[in-house]
This record gives sequence, C-alpha cells and structure tokens, in this order.
Amino acid sequence: TGGAASCLDHAMTDLSTIDNAAAAAAPHARRRTFAIISHPDAGKTTLTEKLLYFGGAIQLAGEVRAKAGRRQTSSDWMKIERQRGISVVTSVMTFEYDGHVFNLLDTPGHEDFSEDTYRTLTAVDSAVMVIDAAKGIEARTKKLFEVCRLRDIPIVTFINKVDRETRDPFDLLNEIETTLALDVAPMTWPVGRGREFVGTLDLASNTLRRNQKGDESDAGQKVDGEDDKLFDELLPHGAADTFREEVFLAREGCKPFDLEAFREGHLTPVYFGAALRDYGVRDLIDALGRLAPSPRAQSADKRLIEAGEPKMTGFVFKIQANMDPNHRDRIAFMRICSGKLSRGMKAKLVRTGKPLPLNAPQFFFARDRSIAEEAFAGDIVGLPNHGTLRIGDTLTEGEDIVFRGVPSFAPEILRRVKLKDAMKAKKLREALQQMAEEGVVQLFLPHDGAPAIVGVVGALQLDVLKERMEAEYSLPVDFEPCQFSIARWISSEDKVALQKFTAAKPSSMADDLDGDPVFMASSQFTLKYDAERAPEIVFSDVKDYQ
Ligand code: G4P
Repeated sequence: TGGAASCLDHAMTDLSTIDNAAAAAAPHARRRTFAIISHPDAGKTTLTEKLLYFGGAIQLAGEVRAKAGRRQTSSDWMKIERQRGISVVTSVMTFEYDGHVFNLLDTPGHEDFSEDTYRTLTAVDSAVMVIDAAKGIEARTKKLFEVCRLRDIPIVTFINKVDRETRDPFDLLNEIETTLALDVAPMTWPVGRGREFVGTLDLASNTLRRNQKGDESDAGQKVDGEDDKLFDELLPHGAADTFREEVFLAREGCKPFDLEAFREGHLTPVYFGAALRDYGVRDLIDALGRLAPSPRAQSADKRLIEAGEPKMTGFVFKIQANMDPNHRDRIAFMRICSGKLSRGMKAKLVRTGKPLPLNAPQFFFARDRSIAEEAFAGDIVGLPNHGTLRIGDTLTEGEDIVFRGVPSFAPEILRRVKLKDAMKAKKLREALQQMAEEGVVQLFLPHDGAPAIVGVVGALQLDVLKERMEAEYSLPVDFEPCQFSIARWISSEDKVALQKFTAAKPSSMADDLDGDPVFMASSQFTLKYDAERAPEIVFSDVKDYQ
C-alpha cells in the first residue's frame, strides 16, 4: 500500500513540523477531538472521507469505506465484520488542517454496539451531528445526542444531502429545537436546493462558497448579502426570491450564534451541505477549528484535570484485540487528558499502582498506524499490551487520580454461557474475564456458584463473543436463556443492610468484573417488588468504571 504509506508520511511530517513550531504555545490548544453522530445512512462515512481528504490524510476519497465486499481494510480484521458488512470497531483518525490537529473518533454504525459508542463519546470534546435533509432527526441521532447532552458535549450540526429533495430548512431547524431542546443558529444557508443547489452562503461574512474541494479555489467569494445580483444568475425561475426571503428570515428570526451557549451544549451552529459533492465540508471543518473547543478539563475523583497541566494523565476508553491477526495484540485506546506523552516514558497504572512503560504508543490514520514519539492532551494513542490494561483505567505520571465517566450500562440481554467441553471450565472463566475487560460483554458471576452469566446491550455482541471464544481460545460455547432479564448494580450507605439483602438472595446475586454486587431480576415487576421492600438499597442501571 504505497499510497497509504506516503499519505501517512505526509500526515506525520505535517504533525511533527507544526508540533515543533508551536511546542512553546501549548500544543493541546490546537487539538480538536470529536466524533460524528448520526442515524445510519445520513452520510457519516461520506463526510468522514471528505474530512480526511481535506486534511490530506487520504489521497482519494473512498478509503475509509469498510463496507461489505472490501478486502484488507484495517477495520475489517474480524470475520464477522466482513460477513455482515458492518463496522464493529471504533477507530480514530488523525489529520491536520489549517494549523489544527483533528482527532476524529469513529463509532460503530450498528446500534448493537452502542456501548462502544457511548464510551467513545466520553473521549471527545465536541461532536458533529449529521442529519439527512430529507429525514430530519431520526431515532439513533436522538439517542446519541442524549448521551452527548449528559456530558454537555458541544454539537455542530451538519444538514447533509441538500443536493436532493429536502424538507423545508426552517422545518428542520424547528425540529432540532423542539425534539432536542437545543437552540439553533444557522451559520450558512443553502443557495438553492435539490437540483438547483449551487453552494452555501455564510450568513456572518457574506461569503458564497460553491463546490468545496479542499484547495485554494474554495476560499469563497464575497457577495453583497442575499441581494447580490449574482443570485439571480445562480437561481433562475424565481428561486432567487425564495432564497432571499429565507435568508432574511434566517437572519432576523433565528438566534444569533453565541459561543458560550454552544460550548455549554445549549446551542448548535447549523451548516448545510452535500458531503458527497464536496459542498459545505470546508464550512464545517473551519467551524470545528474556529468554534469547537480544544481539549476540555476532565473530572477525576479528587480534582479537575486541566488539559494544560504539565504532567501526563489519560484514561482508557476502548480495548481492541487482534487488530492484526498476525500479531495477537491487544490495543488499549487512551485519551490523553493533560501533559505530554513521550515514547518510552513510564506511566503509573493507578488501578494496580504499578509502573507501565509506554514503549510503543501508536497513532492511527485512515488505514494505518505508526509509532507516536510524542502526543498531547486531546490526542488518542493506542497502547499495545497483553491484558494489563482495562477499560476505564487511568494512567498518570505518578499522581493517584482516577478519571470518572467511562460508564457501563445495564445489559438488556442476559445469557448463561454453556461450555461444550466441561473440562475447560477454568479456561472459560479466564477467557470470559478477558472479553469482559475489553468491553465485549459484561460478565456476572452468580453467588450461588451457577455458571457465568454474560450481559449485552445488543444481540450481535453475543455473536462476536462466540466467534472470538472459538477463534482465539478454541472454546466452542453456546448461550442459554437464563431466568433473569434485568441486572442492576446495588449499593447502600447502610453496609449492614446491603450485606443482609445480598445474603438473603444468593440465587439472584452476582459479582461483576470488579467484584461489585449486581442484583438480577426476572422482570420489571419482580425488580420493583424487591426494590420496594428494600428502600435503603439503591438499584442503578449505570455504573461508572472504578
Ligand atoms: P452512513 O455512513 O451515515 O451510513 O452514510 P453513508 O456515508 O454511507 O451514505 C449513505 C448514502 O447516502 C450513500 O449512498 C451515500 O453516497 C449517500 N450520500 C451521502 N452524502 C450525500 C450527499 O451529500 N448527497 C447525496 N445525494 N447522497 C449522499 P448509497 O447509495 O447508499 O451508497 P453508495 O453506493 O453511494 O456507496
């Protein structure tokens, strides 16, 4: 893959040159770490490709696509992905544009892997919400938006596919405002729609941008507001009048952009475009550079950690095994929260208190990875390891702090694991523990000694588990329904009451991976029944790691 290697070089050179030049001026300030949230088919893949193309990270749009039928892309390392044509893994793509280093965290498209997506969203500072202009807010967009809101992640909205039949833009803006309870500020306006679509008008600077290809020619053209005569030429047959009316209304009737409200997650700037045809992409990437926040302070158990602090800190939000089938490696993805990571440094793994040498931290590009000599707050590095690192782990230069907020959600499906060869029970236990540490499934070990129970949010996770148990551990397993369908973490201020409750129900109790108690119920009804009789116990469907 000569092309891939050379584009990697290109990206590396850019990163290192700029890092050296700006080293004194807080390199983290140039980082923009973000994710794209959308409903399937809205155009996330297309937009990702265009953004990477702008950043020079790929030569030809089309390289990110890891859908069915492609061979040898880095993300289809798993057979199940290839067979089903879905993207299971989360990966990160780094590119540089106009003085900023962008870290785009990709998330699995399939909702059965939503846990992965939620965890990924804990590692970003902003998100781009892609909406199909014909469809508006769809189910998955809404759900992902809600996860962003929990963390006050600022959202930039991109209304895509304006080159096709669309809904009325005011209708779409209104829908965002009402269904998401989020103020909207249109930043650009589409010049024509559907077949007449010719570009975007920046409402603040009165710049008209036509096709945006990531070169000098798309810097835009100053116009004399919406009244400019140019629009009569661009939009014949009365379409110019409609356009002028709309722009007037957008300027007069919509909220003006307010940086603070955006940064706090109360207002979204809205951009229009057609990613497939290179419209609106530069508007968007400029917005991310100008408006989206640099790495935010992150809350740890003892204090808030500012990105500009000199000592390195970070947390693991994702583990991925066997990315390269030739080397059975396990990569932990770490978001750096402060300071600088240098290759070869020793970090402290706070959970165990032990030092961990960072000998081969890696950066990721569209299709490749390379050794990271240094990385800064906001960057995501991959740390190869053999099972030392878990999701939620904090690494520091020595301080004993633990980052909060890589959550675990109560599973929606519980299954008992049935082993075909009973002799291998110990191996099964180890393998399940590893899979749970990687976040593939959740693991519950019943207090009464019954076989382990695994919990998942989506059924495809079970397929992945089965496949990997067989391929990596030679353990053919099956799943049996169990009498439980609900799991809740339990806690109480009153330790005696907690102990009593736990002891009274050994067959409904289990320990999770960290040894924390979990209560399992067969239905909402029985859960409610038991909860009402134990008012001192808190039943929770979310758990923060550690
Ligand atoms: P996703 O990752 O969010 O699922 O969406 P993806 O980018 O795969 O886009 C979904 C479909 O929408 C693709 O068509 C893509 O070409 C199309 N699309 C994306 N952006 C635009 C746009 O700005 N304008 C128009 N007209 N279409 C757009 P497909 O036929 O499903 O796939 P393909 O055969 O083109 O790959």
